[in-house]
Amino acid sequence: MSSHHAPSDAAPVPPLAASTLARFDREVAKYPKEQALSAVMACLAIVQQEHGWVSPAHEREIAAHLGVAPMAVHEVTTFYNMYNQRPVGRFKLGVCTNLPCQLRGGADALHHLERRLGVEMGGTTADGLFTLQQNECLGACADAPVMLVNDRNMCSFMSHDKLDQLIDALTAEAGKTEAQ
Ligand code: FES
Repeated sequence: MSSHHAPSDAAPVPPLAASTLARFDREVAKYPKEQALSAVMACLAIVQQEHGWVSPAHEREIAAHLGVAPMAVHEVTTFYNMYNQRPVGRFKLGVCTNLPCQLRGGADALHHLERRLGVEMGGTTADGLFTLQQNECLGACADAPVMLVNDRNMCSFMSHDKLDQLIDALTAEAGKTEAQ
């Protein structure tokens, strides 16, 4: 299914810029040797900020730069939910799929989003605007079902209407910034 992956999925990933490596060095200097994990996380955050996601090639570059095993970096990337392991759309919709949300219409809300956007869970829309992702409990079960937009903004009590309004608003927002 072609809409399942972002269009840029197959594009080659350019090596990290010298300015990026310089940012790494400034972060690494903040941490003593025994806090290597914090240094790895800081570098991953920089790569994601600059590129939108963390590719395997960039993981290897971080490992080489920090002098740690590539697997050690990869384990950090996969352990934490905030690192994107593939290109994501401009708006990342992280739908909570844990039980309390499921018991209060979470699956129905997810299916509505899948239909509306024309992608399945994990997919990115062909226009690169939306990526649908699965999230663990967001600690807002009382407002179930919920999702997190771009790791920041909570959308609670998701009804079909509410989801439609959100998609419309985000699409309009994207159109506005493109026209500028
Ligand atoms: S189960 Fe969805 S927020 Fe807790």
